[in-house]
Amino acid sequence: MVRRIGVLTGGGDCAGLNSAIKWVTKTATDPNLAVHSGQSLEVIGIREGWRGLIEVEPNDSDSLAKWTTALDELVVRTWDRQGGTILGSSRTNPFNQTINKSQKCVENIQALGLDAVVAIGGEDTLSVAYKLYHDLGQKVVGIPKTIDRDLNGTDYTLGYDTALNVIIEEVDRLRTTAGSHNRLFVVEVMGRHAGWLALEGGQASGAHVILIPEYAFEVEKVAALLEKRRAAGVRYDIVVVSEGAKIKGQEEVYISDKVDSFGHKVLGGIGETLAKKLEELTGFETRHVVLSHIQRGGNPSARDRLMGRYFGIAAVDLILEQDFGRMVAYREGHITSVSLKQAIERLNLVEVDKYYDPARYNGRRSSMLPWSRQSE
Ligand code: F6P
Repeated sequence: MVRRIGVLTGGGDCAGLNSAIKWVTKTATDPNLAVHSGQSLEVIGIREGWRGLIEVEPNDSDSLAKWTTALDELVVRTWDRQGGTILGSSRTNPFNQTINKSQKCVENIQALGLDAVVAIGGEDTLSVAYKLYHDLGQKVVGIPKTIDRDLNGTDYTLGYDTALNVIIEEVDRLRTTAGSHNRLFVVEVMGRHAGWLALEGGQASGAHVILIPEYAFEVEKVAALLEKRRAAGVRYDIVVVSEGAKIKGQEEVYISDKVDSFGHKVLGGIGETLAKKLEELTGFETRHVVLSHIQRGGNPSARDRLMGRYFGIAAVDLILEQDFGRMVAYREGHITSVSLKQAIERLNLVEVDKYYDPARYNGRRSSMLPWSRQSE
């Protein structure tokens, strides 16, 4: 029988994480659970993701206090309305090839008396969860989060809706100043491999041009689309571009060549590059704005609070069912679960054929009629 579970948040933070932690805790420690199932659970929060499980020295009380914290209903009472992660996060990879700390993780899971671990994370955090489960026999379940919404096997990942709302709010603000000055604004949004944030944020905010990682674009074509629109009498324009979008024949633009523990370089700069080129080509006065981490900040939207709640409850269900190696998921309108293997085996990218119009560099105007696919 499960008696004590650990919960951690790894990778980039986002809104909705605290709601998930709260509902893992409330569900696990629910007095009704003890009455009905005879199981009573304790919840230990692990600080800073996998880093906490590597760094903690369970026999040292100071270290225990630094890297872990006991969670109960009262402790987490107000967490769901707060952004970020109160447990903290890190991009730590225990399976890093140069310094492999995965055994230390396993030893600490045992020393802390954790019968199961709930890992709330994206592709990187959940790939560690999968290896701990599959290669090292640990009892792990996952909760999907990433503002990029690029995890496979789920239609929703925590943080996405709040990030979308940030995009429309910021673009709305930019519209007034862009209009006042007849300017073109290039807005760079997050999205390392997947263009969901740009595509849906761009559509929701009415951007004229949307550029995504899944479809390499030509700057000349973007310029022509904007010129046509100005010629029609529109005084200003908004272009939304994913940080991972590429100019045809070129690589992504990076802020630096440094890589994190999972081997990722920091993306950024395509907005600026594009703004300069568009100004040269069109002669329109152009500015660029990088929304960057603002998209990950702030209080969670209603949807993120609710999804955090539903995912947190479902994660405890999986543990009670001893159904490990799985990630809770939202599919076709229902809360369900998929294997961690499925969640990480590929990324959920924008299907260009279905959702993107390469002729207009924008969302498709029809996703059902065959002619809409011949617009390129
Ligand atoms: O993976 C989510 C994400 O938000 C990406 O869109 C972005 O490239 C990355 O995180 C930035 O991460 P960091 O917090 O390390 O700057």
